[in-house]
Amino acid sequence: MLMFLILSNFTYTYLHGIQKEENGHSPLYSIWKVYRLSKKRRKMHMYAGTMKNVVALIGSAATSSANHIVIEYIRSEARDIFQVTVYDRLKTLPHFNPEKSLEHAPSEITELRNLIQDADGVIISTPEYVFSIPSGLKNVIEWCVATTVFSEKPLGIITASTSGLKGHEELKLIMHTLMANFTSETTLLIQGVKGKIDAHGAIIDIQTRENLQRFTKALFTLICNRAL
Ligand SMILES: Cc1cc2nc3c(=O)[nH]c(=O)nc-3n(C[C@H](O)[C@H](O)[C@H](O)COP(=O)(O)O)c2cc1C
Repeated sequence: MLMFLILSNFTYTYLHGIQKEENGHSPLYSIWKVYRLSKKRRKMHMYAGTMKNVVALIGSAATSSANHIVIEYIRSEARDIFQVTVYDRLKTLPHFNPEKSLEHAPSEITELRNLIQDADGVIISTPEYVFSIPSGLKNVIEWCVATTVFSEKPLGIITASTSGLKGHEELKLIMHTLMANFTSETTLLIQGVKGKIDAHGAIIDIQTRENLQRFTKALFTLICNRAL
């Protein structure tokens, strides 16, 4: 290892003279710093440097949706760390059929399951409908219940609704049952959401923007920790 460090520093110095990195340290210093971290933190440090592939499921059945705006905000704010794939077609999926759940599952369901399976993390952003989660969202969860696609999957849960209290608790219970991996920092209830968005679709409530930034950071950390 020592030989490697000496050689890399020598090569760098030879090729670039005494030029330093942006932070003012030589590459030898950077390599040494990473090496000194514990094995676990070293892995996380390296994994954290790569973009995370996140699938966002939007529970709203509406075309013009506040939950869509919330996800777009996260997508834009986190563009350096998350590659977000938005899935907003829940209402077009076939109704759950237990006889087709494992064998002969419809192709759209298999595709969505694969999308979730392959993702580093998932965000569910949904309104509450009649004191519960929307039927389209419940439907897709039912299609996934006999699989392990959500098991240990780093998950963010956002309920953006008028009140949303019951739907939020219900969704947490459901996703806990499916063994998804979420914490209180990766769950967020946004009440009175429509009053927090202006006519151009911008989130105008500062507290909500800060909460979403905190949420995003927490999900990123959860994903990085999971890779250890
Ligand atoms: C069928 C229906 C039922 C609703 N029931 C509730 C409810 O029980 N609790 C609540 O907080 N909001 C309820 N709402 C209001 C939605 O939460 C609100 O319109 C929300 O902004 C919708 O999210 P979206 O803009 O992403 O579609 C209901 C809306 C609809 C269309």
